[in-house]
Amino acid sequence: MNWQAIDRYAKSLIKEAGHKIRLSFFNEIHIDSKADANDLVTNIDREIEQFFISRIRKDFPTHKIFGEEGFGDNLVALDGIIWILDPIDGTMNFVHQKRNFAISLGIYADGVGMLGYIYDVMGDDFYHAAKGEGAYFNDELLPELEPTPIHEAIIGINARWVAPNKYINNEKVMDLITTCRGTRSYGSAAMELSYVASGRLDAYISTRLSPWDIAGGIIIAQEVGALATNFNGDKPGLLSQEPFIVARPGLHEQILTNYIEIKK
Ligand code: IPD
Ligand code: CA
Ligand code: CA
Repeated sequence: MNWQAIDRYAKSLIKEAGHKIRLSFFNEIHIDSKADANDLVTNIDREIEQFFISRIRKDFPTHKIFGEEGFGDNLVALDGIIWILDPIDGTMNFVHQKRNFAISLGIYADGVGMLGYIYDVMGDDFYHAAKGEGAYFNDELLPELEPTPIHEAIIGINARWVAPNKYINNEKVMDLITTCRGTRSYGSAAMELSYVASGRLDAYISTRLSPWDIAGGIIIAQEVGALATNFNGDKPGLLSQEPFIVARPGLHEQILTNYIEIKK
């Protein structure tokens, strides 16, 4: 497999898709909701996914595509080459803020992450990595992450997990946010992953993410030594929704051990 050629192809496809998304603001955007009233999707999410799928199917007919909007393949296993795509991660931001959303893509071979991309479309910031070859922010090689003590850490977490919820003990989350230096919530899991990889955040935690939210980002994060797992400390599954944490080495274990208690 010529991964360098696939890498060049994927980068140019993502840039082209980003251009289409920016142009979409000149026309009216149609907004629907999916699982609940706040789970938004637009015609642009769908059109961008279809754009990727039509190109990839034409140019790589043996590859599979797993996309959020469901136009790709129905996956039951991770064998073969799979493109895992979120055409717009942060749709609520896309609709309400017209910024802070990203295209997220991970390309896997038999379940192993080979190429990862996160494109902050409005910021025109591109994060990418190839397995074993380091991670890049635009064209700058990102340095290996060093440990950070929790009291100096900035943690990406949504405020909803501080309120009582059915997934994790919110009192422990309160301990976490009062112990660390500060918290942030950007509303795009992919962007938050890219911020951990580039040292802008020290950790990011979410109780439920889908494969397309994290597929690109975990490849990038791993290249700089971040740990990305579910709340049991296992490798994310990539076929279903799971709790998710990514953090600098050391901090990952500290947060999981002391501050995350899964409700039975
Ligand atoms: C969502 C964003 C959000 C995260 C949600 C995701 P979407 O993705 O990543 O930050 O908290 O769990 O579903 O729906 O905008 O692609
Ligand atoms: Ca998403
Ligand atoms: Ca999405």
